[in-house]
Amino acid sequence: MEMKRHHCYNAVIKKIDDKGGYQMKKKIMSIFLAAVMVGSFSLSVPVMAEEEATAEAADVDLSEYKVGVCIYQFSDNFMTLFREELLSYMVELGFSEDNIQIQDGANDQATQTNQIDAFITDGVDVLIINPVNSSSAATITDKVVDAGIPLVYINREPDEDEEARWDENDWDVTYVGCDARQSGTMQGELIVDLGLDAVDFNGNGAVDYVMIEGDPENIDAKYRTEYSIAALEDAGLEVNCLDDQVGNWDQVTAQQLVANSLSQYGDDVEVVFCNNDAMALGALQAIEAAGRTVGEDIYLVGVDALSEACEDVLAGTMTGTVFNDHISQSHSAADAAVNYLTGAGNEHYIGCDYVKVTAENAQEILDMAS
Ligand code: BGC
Repeated sequence: MEMKRHHCYNAVIKKIDDKGGYQMKKKIMSIFLAAVMVGSFSLSVPVMAEEEATAEAADVDLSEYKVGVCIYQFSDNFMTLFREELLSYMVELGFSEDNIQIQDGANDQATQTNQIDAFITDGVDVLIINPVNSSSAATITDKVVDAGIPLVYINREPDEDEEARWDENDWDVTYVGCDARQSGTMQGELIVDLGLDAVDFNGNGAVDYVMIEGDPENIDAKYRTEYSIAALEDAGLEVNCLDDQVGNWDQVTAQQLVANSLSQYGDDVEVVFCNNDAMALGALQAIEAAGRTVGEDIYLVGVDALSEACEDVLAGTMTGTVFNDHISQSHSAADAAVNYLTGAGNEHYIGCDYVKVTAENAQEILDMAS
């Protein structure tokens, strides 16, 4: 039930968003949350935890269908959670594990394109693709549609022009994911909620921050960077960017970058924003190595709610994170694949909401997501 609501709600919101932008979306989201979810995350947790396989085709025999899944890179922590949940849910729905092939694109579009070609030659019935480069989506779509195979994109959203083609041509192509602007806004709010007095350690009247970005090809990185800071500014806070570096979603890279920033800007660094938790975990190593203490002389926020990050939020060694709901997203992707196989079809955009994570709800998220 909860997931179906998510689908309808996000389909409507997406249409509004194309016309009215994110502010409108935020307003409608509040009304929706108040009216339907009764404003309480804890209320929705048991529903999701106990959720059964909900694809329309629960009664259809799915065991003979061949599914091709392309993941941009197996070593990505978040996509590993997504991939494992996707596989177990598809088996729960009735697919045979032997008929689900999952390929590692090794962060190389040429490698992934070869994998897609091989899936097409192999005659898979449906493809689920997490593109290495979202900008390659048009080429991918063309070859998959030409082969008559329905396509579900996940996690890395193709651009508006590409999505418009699916609608105009009535192709069996959809995207399942969250709106990264929402996660950026929530990251900013985690800092706004502390109040300037608590954050402004050097007393210069501004929030002095370091930004560690994910892969710039990925819209999630762009939006989280932009919307986290916009949330501070919208709350009337002055901001001062000390350093803005690309950590490519990677823990070790982020650790080195934050170590450099801390040695260059020292005690002036008041907040470290990381576009994901893997990089926040690296940032935390650098923060601790520099003798700094999160919550006492610096703040740190990430996105994803990896279990290690939730543990850090509970321990106070991370200020907060944002739950990137890999459960809902992977289930929606599998449900969308089933809906194509049964002919039920899908909207061309299937969304999902992020959830702000603080010490107050981190345990709930941990219990639900692990
Ligand atoms: C996640 C990152 C992940 C990226 C992969 C993002 O939504 O937050 O952790 O590396 O997706 O595309």
